[in-house]
Amino acid sequence: MRIDTNPIVRLEDYRPSDFLIDSVELDVRLHPTETRVIATLAMRPNPEGRPDAPLALDGDELNLKSVALNGRTLAGEEFEASPQALTIAQAPRQPFTLTIETEINPTTNTKLMGLYRSSGNYCTQCEAEGFRRITYFLDRPDVLSVYTTRIEAEGDDAPVLLGNGNPVESGTVDGSDRHYAVWHDPHPKPSYLFALVGGRLGRIAKNFTTMSGREVELAIYVEPGKEDRADYALDALERSMRWDERVFGREYDLDVFNIVAVSDFNMGAMENKGLNIFNDKYVLASPETATDMDYAHIEAIIAHEYFHNWTGNRVTCRDWFQLCLKEGLTVFRDQEFSSDERSRPVHRIAEVKTLRARQFLEDSSPLAHPVRPTQYREINNFYTATVYEKGAEIVRMLKTIIGDEDFRRGMDLYFDRCDGTAATVEDFLRAFADVTGRDLSHFARWYEQSGTPRVKVKGRYDPDAQTYRLDLAQSTSPTPGQVKKDAMAIPVALGLVMHDGSPSNGTCDRVDSRGVFLLDKPEDSIAFTGVTSLPVPSLFRGFSAPVKVSLDLPNEELLVLLRHDMDAFNRWQAAQTVAMRLLAALSTGAEVSDAEIDAFSAALASFMDRDACEDPAFAALVVTLPSEADIAQEIGRDVNPDTIHRARSEMRRRIGLSCANHLRRFYESLTDTGPYSPDAASAGRRSLRNASLDLLAAADPGVGEALAVQQLESAVNMTDRLASLSVLTTLPGEAREKAIARFGERYRNEPLVLDKWFTLQAAIPENGTLERIKGLMQHPAFSIANPNRVRALIGSFAMLNQVQFNRADGAGYRFLASIVLRTDELNPQLAARLLTAFSTWRMMENTRRSHAEEALRSIAQKPNLSRDVGDIVSRSLEESQGK
Ligand code: PHE
Ligand code: ZN
Repeated sequence: MRIDTNPIVRLEDYRPSDFLIDSVELDVRLHPTETRVIATLAMRPNPEGRPDAPLALDGDELNLKSVALNGRTLAGEEFEASPQALTIAQAPRQPFTLTIETEINPTTNTKLMGLYRSSGNYCTQCEAEGFRRITYFLDRPDVLSVYTTRIEAEGDDAPVLLGNGNPVESGTVDGSDRHYAVWHDPHPKPSYLFALVGGRLGRIAKNFTTMSGREVELAIYVEPGKEDRADYALDALERSMRWDERVFGREYDLDVFNIVAVSDFNMGAMENKGLNIFNDKYVLASPETATDMDYAHIEAIIAHEYFHNWTGNRVTCRDWFQLCLKEGLTVFRDQEFSSDERSRPVHRIAEVKTLRARQFLEDSSPLAHPVRPTQYREINNFYTATVYEKGAEIVRMLKTIIGDEDFRRGMDLYFDRCDGTAATVEDFLRAFADVTGRDLSHFARWYEQSGTPRVKVKGRYDPDAQTYRLDLAQSTSPTPGQVKKDAMAIPVALGLVMHDGSPSNGTCDRVDSRGVFLLDKPEDSIAFTGVTSLPVPSLFRGFSAPVKVSLDLPNEELLVLLRHDMDAFNRWQAAQTVAMRLLAALSTGAEVSDAEIDAFSAALASFMDRDACEDPAFAALVVTLPSEADIAQEIGRDVNPDTIHRARSEMRRRIGLSCANHLRRFYESLTDTGPYSPDAASAGRRSLRNASLDLLAAADPGVGEALAVQQLESAVNMTDRLASLSVLTTLPGEAREKAIARFGERYRNEPLVLDKWFTLQAAIPENGTLERIKGLMQHPAFSIANPNRVRALIGSFAMLNQVQFNRADGAGYRFLASIVLRTDELNPQLAARLLTAFSTWRMMENTRRSHAEEALRSIAQKPNLSRDVGDIVSRSLEESQGK
């Protein structure tokens, strides 16, 4: 195996920077291949740094033209320069000015880090360590500086010039076709929040008055001609700003807020101060091109990046180990926003589905790591579900434990204390410890311990004593680097539900006024008294902790929860738990009686009778079975995706048959009237209608095909059109191929729609899919250099198509390995992300496991792997858990 020689960065080695940079003046002369950057840095030794340290600036693929100290150009022997570093051994012990001129090539920058071009426009991406690809710098988040940026470009080439902060000046450069703009950002910030944009862009704008009466101009820049597709994003921005004022008391702090959409972007979006840059997929939407889910994502990501202005920018991170300090907290904030704007229970279920699908999976894989890692080889590989999603769950648990009011007081104190600083997780927790007087040191383990705790629960009713007793025990399996696990502080929101739905009269003094019991020992028992008949325990209401639960209750009792629990999340969970038991048993060849399946179908049918019309979005979630990947995770070892696929198809067919009348009724009654609106209620009706179509097609492919073909013809929005095409892709035959071809033709000039089309085809669970994908890679709209295209076609194949990616002959693995190696030469971040699809390899049955291992080893062997891919491949192959 490849020996990774890259240095490991460790949290315990943190020390303050030896120098500080108070202000930065950047002069950037944009040119397609020879962009000039002159950086003037006002520097001084850091009183907290080492007194005799050399000045060592970071670089990455830089070409140094000149360097001057206090205005005097340095001679060759006065410094040491390489593309990766600029070092001055004898730096002044007094404040000084360093002027550095570099030349960079944005056109050949395929990594999409630093300054690069997308559709001919110039843009930047600096998080985490991209600023060093623009100029030599102390490229670390605890060095905060005030930036002034002058951008100059050919007027025709880049009529729009944007920077961080406020615009201060613009004009033409005398005697040339060039023009310039100067931007000033008064708020000190780390270099990863720097951004600039130059290009031909259309614009929409709106004024916003903040809660203290400041006027702000909000603008979104997009590809010319697509301005109307940004309306929804702009509306979401305005709602986010209002919400942050109302819920967190946070106000915006510049005169302008700009968002730019670009089509080549490694991630979702970036919170650069006053100048957010977005993957255009999360800005552009019209009823014709975007689905309800796209609208929901746009709303969430616009909010997320905006919320970073306080959680991330005003208070930033001391070092990259603290990434969850901004990301987990900001995800929590955007989730709260979406819950307030939409349906809270429906949104909560969606959050938990992603958490389980991505984070629980990561936690059980060779890539498991704590929410705050203690070491990394490549920080880009730590923008993970664990840091983001589990990070958000920690904040939510904190709020559950201390209550809403103290949570808000703690946040206020955190902002007061840490505004303008680079903070740590300890600073965050200290604010809550101080406002509540609680000791949060045990709770802090959530940041340090990786792995998903499992809580085993046993319930016992004593009719004579009228008591109900719950025994709870927690444990966490070993993860890489952590063999021994401690007990966590787990908030269990719970209650008792009576079989007839009447309110429970039982009480328990270990449960607080908000219905929460804190399980902070390996084992504990609690007893409810005054319980007059056998209850069903409803545990982890609202998913109060990111744990797995094992509960010894029969299906019939769980289904009481579906019917009567006041907690919507647990009603859904009850149905999922029963479905999962049946699916896991069917997949592994265990005995499942028809009666069990019929009982479940009957419970779904009566649920549909009673509740489905009240909240269609919720009903759609209840009737949707756990995914094949969820089932694989539940089984956990010796997984055979083929048997899982068959089991799930069979269950869908059975449910479709026994609930056909209900489904038919939904399908016919939930049609849209009036023009398309992306609001949650309308989207909910569409989702139940389309879930019904899916089950009807599973029950009777002939009927399904006819309905889907008809819906595809008559649909007036992308949600319905795509849903019907998706149903058709499950039904092999001529109708499907015709539909696929027509859809591709119709949207041949819409890359974001073609991405959906790529994804649907990549997910077809048939043997021809790999060849189909190879064919689609020749499609004129496909480009191996564009992350959205690659993820849509190849990423979805690896992540969504369980049976074909995990083909028993290993062809799926070999294909992905070849794509990883190809993309690694262009864009290592993209390659590394694709490679994480292998993280499930150890849970596969033997044949598949050895094919996967071979594919991983073939990657590991290659010379000159990027640090990104080298890190993921070596961790994926690492021998034992807990080393
Ligand atoms: N900080 C961005 C966000 O979560 C994500 C991101 C990371 C974007 C790294 C680009 C590069 O909002
Ligand atoms: Zn973020």
